[in-house]
This record gives sequence, structure tokens and C-alpha cells, in this order.
Amino acid sequence: MSETRDRTALVTGAARGIGRAAAALFLAEGWRVALLDIDGPGVEAATARLDQPERTLAVTADVSDPAAVAAAMRRVADRFGRLDALVNNAGIAIFKPLTETTFEDWSRVLAVNLSGPFLCTQAAIPLLAERGGAIVNITSISGLRASTLRTAYGTSKAALAQLTKQQAVELGQFGIRVNAVAPGPVDTAMAKAVHSPEIRADYHDAMPLGRYGLEAELAEAIVFLCSDRAAFVTGQQLAVDGGFEATGIGLKTLRRERRD
Ligand SMILES: NC(=O)c1ccc[n+]([C@@H]2O[C@H](COP(=O)([O-])OP(=O)(O)OC[C@H]3O[C@@H](n4cnc5c(N)ncnc54)[C@H](O)[C@@H]3O)[C@@H](O)[C@H]2O)c1
Repeated sequence: MSETRDRTALVTGAARGIGRAAAALFLAEGWRVALLDIDGPGVEAATARLDQPERTLAVTADVSDPAAVAAAMRRVADRFGRLDALVNNAGIAIFKPLTETTFEDWSRVLAVNLSGPFLCTQAAIPLLAERGGAIVNITSISGLRASTLRTAYGTSKAALAQLTKQQAVELGQFGIRVNAVAPGPVDTAMAKAVHSPEIRADYHDAMPLGRYGLEAELAEAIVFLCSDRAAFVTGQQLAVDGGFEATGIGLKTLRRERRD
């Protein structure tokens, strides 16, 4: 890859949460950034807040809409002339029991969380392949471990982990690396919408670090995987989850026993 100053990243779902934090960190590390989101006013506001109009671009698009994705990629190409990193972060969570998950719920979750990264990656390949680059797909701990209420969401994220490997295998020849970041619970608007106080307490008890992650902590892992510091890393999934995935049963009880 060439000079950091010209490097350009496209982050989907960047109006808020993990995506916005990743966009801010790319910018702080000298990258130019296109922020894409289905929420037009939200992505305009998030981009304005970064206060670097010369080095940022707000794009309104639905990642599950092939025509909108193609148009978005043309805007990035016209504005910056290159792309070095794509972060497929846009995602939705519909948490319902299996018996209450409608086909519409299932279809929308898969469309955004799985078809979105498929479409954005395909559209980005010509630009990324010009100089070589990196893709990071944001999966979830819910794709690594089955939990209640996540039939659609967890399945979409497990499939995205497999898509990450497929992409890594086929895109290596173009100098494109593809990895995934699997967040554990992170204190974002999404988590606030679907995690009750009781669920939050359960998570704290089940995690070695005993707390939710911060958006900025996820951004660090994402930007690292897009950087030359990860130049030989591809096809991997990195759980950034406070140790949640590593944990078996009894953590809370054993912690107590140690304290006593
Ligand atoms: N917050 C968590 O605890 C957590 C845990 C595991 C994985 N994740 C994953 O991390 C990613 C970011 O999550 P977050 O917590 O920051 O979520 P968030 O809801 O705060 O932000 C997601 C953003 O994606 C945008 N978006 C939704 N559908 C879109 C579409 N079709 N096209 C374009 N943009 C769209 C939303 O408008 C929003 O700005 C998601 O993929 C999510 O599944 C989050």
C-alpha cells in the first residue's frame, strides 16, 4: 500500500456506534473516510461532526440494495479515486424466539447482515484490487456461540464468518486481505435496544473482563486489521469480546470462591 495520507476507507453503518468510531479512528490515523449509512440525516451529522470535509464523504445507501451499493461505490471512486479498506459493519438485530421470528424478520436480517457484505465487497473489488487492500466484516459473538432469541441474527453472523473465509481465499490473488471482527457486547444504541438490565447483568457475570466493550476498543481492532501491521493476516476472525467466547460455565461462582 502507498502513502497513508491518500489511503481511503469505506465504513458501512457509520452514522453511529462501532462504525462511527471506526471512521473517526481511520481519520485520526491519517486515512480519508467515506461514511455510508441507510440513515441519511444521521450519516450527514456524523460526518459533519468529524469536521474534516476535505477528507470525508457521507453516503446514504441501503447495503442490501444492489443498485444503491453500486451508486455508492461510484461516488467513492469519483470523490477519492481509490479505495484501500472496506469495513462491512452495517447490521441489524431482531431478537425474537424462533417460534415468533417471521419470514420477513429472517429475510431482512439476512439481507442486511449477510447480503450487504456480499454486495459491498463485490462492488468494491475493482477499486481495492488496484493497489491491494483490506476488508473487515463485522460478525458477532452471536455467530460463534448460539444463544436464545438469535435464530436470524446469529445465523446471519455465522454465515458472514464463512463468507469472510470464502472472500479471503478468492481475493488473496488480488492482494486483498479479508478478516472478521466478532464483537462481544458493546455499549451502542443497538445493544441498548435489545439488552435489558437483567441481560446486561448476565453478560457481566459471564465475561472474564466483567464489562461491556467500548466502541473505541472495537475500532482499534478494525483499523489494525486494515493496516499494514496486519499485512500477513487474512481469513481470520478476531473476537473482541472481553473473553466471552473463551469462557465455560461457572465463571461467576468460581470468581466468588476465589475471593472468599
Ligand atoms: N453492539 C453490540 O453489542 C454488537 C455485538 C456484536 C456485533 N455487533 C455488530 O456490530 C455492527 C455495528 O453494531 P452497532 O452496535 O454499532 O449498531 P448500531 O445499531 O448502533 O449501528 C448500526 C448502523 O448501521 C446502520 N444500518 C442498518 N441497516 C443498514 C442498511 N441496510 N444499510 C446501511 N446502513 C444500515 C444503522 O442506521 C446504524 O447507523 C453490526 O454489524 C452489529 O451486528 C454489535
